[in-house]
Amino acid sequence: MVKINDYSKLTYVKGNSYGEEDTGNLIIEGENCSILDIISEQFSNKVKCIYIDPPYNNGEKYTHYNDDMKHEMWLEEITKTLEKLNHFLSDDGSIWISIDDSEVHYLKVAADQVFGRKNFITTIVWQQRITRENRKVFSNNHEYILVYAKNPIKFKHSRNLLPPNSEMLSRYKNQGNDPRGPWQSVSAHVQAGHAVKSQFYEIVAPNGRKHSPPNGRCWVYSKERMEQEILSNNIWFGKDGNGVPRIKKFLSSNIGVTPETLWLGNDVGTNEMAKKHLLRLFPGSPVFDTPKPESLIKRILEIATNESDLVLDAYLGSGTTAAVAHKMKRRYIGIEVGKHIQDLVVPRMRKVIEGESGGVSEEVSWQGGGGFSYYVNSENGDVLNIGIIKERKLKYSI
Ligand SMILES: C[S@@+](CC[C@H](N)C(=O)[O-])C[C@H]1O[C@@H](n2cnc3c(N)ncnc32)[C@H](O)[C@@H]1O
Repeated sequence: MVKINDYSKLTYVKGNSYGEEDTGNLIIEGENCSILDIISEQFSNKVKCIYIDPPYNNGEKYTHYNDDMKHEMWLEEITKTLEKLNHFLSDDGSIWISIDDSEVHYLKVAADQVFGRKNFITTIVWQQRITRENRKVFSNNHEYILVYAKNPIKFKHSRNLLPPNSEMLSRYKNQGNDPRGPWQSVSAHVQAGHAVKSQFYEIVAPNGRKHSPPNGRCWVYSKERMEQEILSNNIWFGKDGNGVPRIKKFLSSNIGVTPETLWLGNDVGTNEMAKKHLLRLFPGSPVFDTPKPESLIKRILEIATNESDLVLDAYLGSGTTAAVAHKMKRRYIGIEVGKHIQDLVVPRMRKVIEGESGGVSEEVSWQGGGGFSYYVNSENGDVLNIGIIKERKLKYSI
C-alpha cells in the first residue's frame, strides 16, 4: 500500500480518484519539479523505469500546450528535471526519454552530464509516421528515445528480452518430428577473432563426413561439447545428413529476442494511431496532438520492468504511460501540469479501470480492475476547483 507521506504539500482528491483504493498508483496534478521535490524522499531509489516525453521545443503550438521556448531556457528546464528524476531510479532502473530532431543533440549532451556518459545505453529510432510528409524539404518520419541506466551492468541483467513476433515464430518448423517440438537451425560457427584453441577441430558427422570451420571462423563449442551435442540430437546435418553442421534452437527453450534499436510504426504504433485510439475513446472531443501509441510504451515497459515494478512519467500528457502501466499490472506515478490531467487523463484512466478494450488491451488480456489516487499540489492555489470534477462539464465524457 502506497500513500503520499507528505500530506501538507499534496491534497488527495477523492472525486478524481477511481476504483480500488490504496493501490499505490498515483496521478498527480502540478508542475513536475515541485512534485518531484515533494515525493523524492518517499520514492528515491524506488523507480524501475522512468519514461518521459517532454515538450520537444520544436516551435509548435498545440491545443493543450505550447512547444515554443527559448532554446537556453528549454535546456535549463529539462536539465533541472533530469537531475531530479535521477534520484528516483532504482539501482537496476532505467530512464527513457522521447525527443525529436530539434533538440536531440543538445539533450544528449545534457543527459550525459546528468546521468554519466558511461550509463548511456542506446538511442532508439522510432518511426512515428508511416506516410510521407510532402510539404517539407524532408519528410521527417522518426523520433528518438534516449536510454540511460543507473548502472548498465545491473540493467543488462535485469532487462527483459522481447517475445518473438509472428515472423520469427514462423521460422520454427519440426523437421524430423523432434519430440521436443518446433526448432530452427542457427550457425554452429562464429568469427575466430576471440577464439581459443579448443574451438578449431574437425566435426565428424554421424554418417562419417568431416567438416572444418570456414576460413576465419571457428566452432561455437569445444570438441567435447560438440560431440555431446551431436549425441543429444542438437546438431542438424541437413535432410540427407551431408549438410554443414548447424545448431538446433528449440522454440520451447527460446526465452526471447534481444531488443533492436529500430522500432517500426507497424510494430509499435505511430502518432496517428495513438490519436485515433483517443478519438475512439472520446468521439468528438478535442484531439490531444502528441499522444504516444500504447504499443510503444508497452515495448518499453516489457524491456525495462516486470509486474508490480514502479514506473514514473513526469510529463503525463494524455496519460498513455499510466494507462499502459495499469494494463500491464505495473505500479505508476504520473505527473502533469496541464488541465487536461482532469479532463482527459482522469476519464481515460476510468475507462481503463472499467476494462477499455483499445490500445494494448487485447495483447495484454486486459479485463479491467484496480484503481488510482489523484493528488494535487496544495501550493498551486487551484485546489478549490479540483474536487468538483464530477459536476464540471467535461470535455472528454466518461
Ligand atoms: C508531449 S506531451 C506528453 C504526451 C504523452 N506521452 C502522451 O502519450 O500523451 C508533454 C506533456 O508535458 C506536459 N508538461 C510540460 N511541462 C510540464 C511540467 N513542467 N510539469 C508537468 N507537465 C509538464 C505538457 O502539458 C504536456 O501534456
